[in-house]
Amino acid sequence: MALLSLVHVDKRFGGVNALTDVGFQVEQDEILGLIGPNGAGKTTLLNCISGVFPLDGGSIHFAGQRISGLPPHRIARLGIGRTFQVVKPFLSMTVRENAAVGALFGASNLQPRLAFQAAEEVLELVGMAAKSGHAVGSLTIPDRKRLEVARALATKPRLLLLDEVMAGLNAVEVEEALDMVRTVHRSGVTIVLIEHVMKVVVGLCQRVVVLNFGQPLAAGTPEEVLRDERVIEAYLGEKYAARVRRAGG
Ligand SMILES: Nc1ncnc2c1ncn2[C@@H]1O[C@H](COP(=O)(O)OP(=O)(O)O)[C@@H](O)[C@H]1O
Ligand SMILES: [Mg+2]
Repeated sequence: MALLSLVHVDKRFGGVNALTDVGFQVEQDEILGLIGPNGAGKTTLLNCISGVFPLDGGSIHFAGQRISGLPPHRIARLGIGRTFQVVKPFLSMTVRENAAVGALFGASNLQPRLAFQAAEEVLELVGMAAKSGHAVGSLTIPDRKRLEVARALATKPRLLLLDEVMAGLNAVEVEEALDMVRTVHRSGVTIVLIEHVMKVVVGLCQRVVVLNFGQPLAAGTPEEVLRDERVIEAYLGEKYAARVRRAGG
């Protein structure tokens, strides 16, 4: 049985069909990539899975239980953690305190002492243990991304949803972030990640789902999807063209 299963998922915002008949499954222990042009509905899909938005149609099941219709904190407690595309840490608090807030959100009746213990464990996992006493306001962008992953992991999720955690990183930082995601995955967490850097998608994902205008356009291994004519036309063509424009070509 799949760990996560989406069937006929619809989501509308007024007249905008943000998601139309989206269906796919995520198997236990895989890393699934979610790609597609800006505005394709990728973040909306994560918001639907994590319970931020109610669905307008369809259903979502996690570990055999229907989760669509449940509030975000219940879904977090069932074992789904997520990062946010726009990171909003509590700037006046330390790294450790921010991660502990994540632990308190995910669990019921967790003692603060245990929340701080969970925080230290996840900070170790993402390579931030040495900075756990630092003020968040003093962190670099890559470290803020790491903290965001730690905060999501502090709920001890079985499934982690990552929304563009590599955005804004340079090539070296992307390599380091790749290692971090691999470490998290090896610790036993299934991952769905939204990503624009194809090197990351190819380097991490066993399977990729492509969204376009809120609809699934293609699905398969990274190799299959990246040579799919429809994907090249709808997404990769635009990306490669943008790269040529940036290079002044
Ligand atoms: N909270 C919202 N209210 C209204 N429209 C939204 C909201 N969130 C997303 N949308 C719209 O839904 C579509 C998909 O957006 P989004 O999921 O952010 O795309 P992506 O993450 O793939 O770039 C866009 O047309 C966007 O404007
Ligand atoms: Mg997005």
